[in-house]
Amino acid sequence: MSHEPTVKIVNITKRYSDIVALKGLSLDVRRGEIFGFLGPNASGKSTTLKTILGLVKPDFGYVNVLGINVEDNPVEVKRRVGYVPESPRIYEFLTGLEFLDLTGDIYGMNPAEKKKRIEEYLEALELEGREGDMISSYSQGMKQKIVIISALMHRPELLLLDEPISSLDPRSARIIKDLLRELASDGVTTIICTHVLEIAQALCDRIAIMYEGGLLALGTMEELRERAKMPESDLEDIFLQLTGTGDIRPVIEALLK
Ligand SMILES: Nc1ncnc2c1ncn2[C@@H]1O[C@H](COP(=O)(O)OP(=O)(O)O)[C@@H](O)[C@H]1O
Ligand SMILES: [Mg+2]
Repeated sequence: MSHEPTVKIVNITKRYSDIVALKGLSLDVRRGEIFGFLGPNASGKSTTLKTILGLVKPDFGYVNVLGINVEDNPVEVKRRVGYVPESPRIYEFLTGLEFLDLTGDIYGMNPAEKKKRIEEYLEALELEGREGDMISSYSQGMKQKIVIISALMHRPELLLLDEPISSLDPRSARIIKDLLRELASDGVTTIICTHVLEIAQALCDRIAIMYEGGLLALGTMEELRERAKMPESDLEDIFLQLTGTGDIRPVIEALLK
């Protein structure tokens, strides 16, 4: 088995005219890891995911995904990666089943495999019986589940999830969390952006805290506690301390040492 990281981000910088969305970000994500990006709004989380997928081209630096240089072979990367964007575009006039069928066809899945996967995931996410209804009649959480299935059904080796669980009720969030854990044990790597600190803390093996386009801290919960010098704290305290409006300078300085 290769020890090469599943995702290798090397010194990426991205500007949008005078906004610097990413400032020389570097990090590795390992195979089978559930990796979380946390950070305040506009800190560069979504831009990082889009760069990994090849939807955004960095001005400097590069990204390797599954041993592939994203810029050299963006189609191959998209084929092997599943992506749930922050605001997914979904065809409301299709039924859930039609949408998943279409997605499977776009990925070139064979019909039997496609049917099997769709059935499996509809059952796992408790959407059975509703697949024949128009997506426009679904609740927000149901739409979110359909999008998650559409990202998973072709068995990607890497999953990129941008704020995927925020609109789910606790039971559905739990089902997704269990599913991601199960996939991780099969070697599937997941990168998840979330504002829900509880999710990051409960689900992620390692967490990157982004701040103004760079990395404020990266590590396991234990390592974050240590580096922030907040040994007794949970992630919420650390996060608020790091990114809140209070006097965060000492914490940032401790982290940057
Ligand atoms: N397509 C774009 N055009 C202009 N500015 C953008 C674009 N995408 C992102 N930005 C800016 O880049 C910064 C980082 O955005 P983003 O990566 O979406 O942050 P996050 O996901 O952490 O909220 C923000 O200031 C945002 O306004
Ligand atoms: Mg975002």
